[in-house]
Amino acid sequence: IGKRITTLILIATMSFVGVGCSSANGEEKSVRVIRVAHGQNEDHPQHKALLEFEKYVEEKTNNELDVQIFPNELLGATSQAVELCQTGAIDLVVAGLGNLEAFEDSYTVLNLPYIMDSKEHYHEVMNDEEIMGPIYESTRESGFIGLTWFDAGIRNIYTTKKVINTPDDLKGLKIRVQTSPTNVKMLQALGASATPMSFGEVYTGLQQSVIDGAENNELALVNNKHGEVAKNYSYNMHAMLPDLLIVNARLLDELTPDQSQAIVDGAKLANEFEVEAWEEAAAEAKAKAEEMGVNFYYPDIKPFQEKMKDLHAEYTQDPDMKAIFDKIRAKGDEILARNENKEHSKE
Ligand code: GCU
Repeated sequence: IGKRITTLILIATMSFVGVGCSSANGEEKSVRVIRVAHGQNEDHPQHKALLEFEKYVEEKTNNELDVQIFPNELLGATSQAVELCQTGAIDLVVAGLGNLEAFEDSYTVLNLPYIMDSKEHYHEVMNDEEIMGPIYESTRESGFIGLTWFDAGIRNIYTTKKVINTPDDLKGLKIRVQTSPTNVKMLQALGASATPMSFGEVYTGLQQSVIDGAENNELALVNNKHGEVAKNYSYNMHAMLPDLLIVNARLLDELTPDQSQAIVDGAKLANEFEVEAWEEAAAEAKAKAEEMGVNFYYPDIKPFQEKMKDLHAEYTQDPDMKAIFDKIRAKGDEILARNENKEHSKE
């Protein structure tokens, strides 16, 4: 905590426009620092992708932009980092959808459990400009916009003691969720007692039995050491979710066109790098977790899905939310039909 506060004070006192430095021909040129915050450690594919972003942007702008990456929630829990991005104290943040729900209902729809049928469906939705473009833009008034997405895998429930095979097994268990109303309702619908807390607190929470479990992708077991304490990981597959790279809404207008372009192109590059790296990272994490003694279970997901019907009904009452929900579902059905056709043509 001390480190975080120091960093925050540092940010507050640093001038935003950056420091003058001399270029090769001796002229003064001003360097603009671009601060990027995220909550993962340095081994995570999102951090590695951001290093690619840094390299690209700095090269393209002849170091007029100096990208500085702050991992591990160093600048505060993600929800706070998003607030700092609204004011421009941080330029870019990687945020989970839960953190963005408060700003825009569309993120709530994307955050609904079991809305995606498959990885193929999820990736196609995320790469669909028509769906995502307006969503990325929708928070401009709140001070930030979406730039691109990072894969955050499939979220599943894991516990310290009781193995989860059916929703009934969750009764009365305290399960950590992200600070998001949808996630709270989701775990409640499954019969658990939902306990919101920030990512950085989960390990201690598990260790001290403040919580009985959590829900996340496989990387959390290893990168964040949750697998040291939680040994039962059940593939109930409730969420396929991206993290979003958001940017302060004024930044791209304040920079020169070339500098803004470098940020936009660098973000795209980072997206491609991260999505490509994800699968292997998840497989590697699973193998390492097994070595740590984590057992993996594959329950029937239907009973879990059934419990989410009311939640889907509740969130599609609003016509704007329903419109996005329908677009996502339509794409799911389109992919299903396409894959069936492929199967038929093979026969
Ligand atoms: C994952 C996800 C993050 C999220 C975290 C959490 O690591 O990528 O966006 O914040 O889980 O559960 O808090």
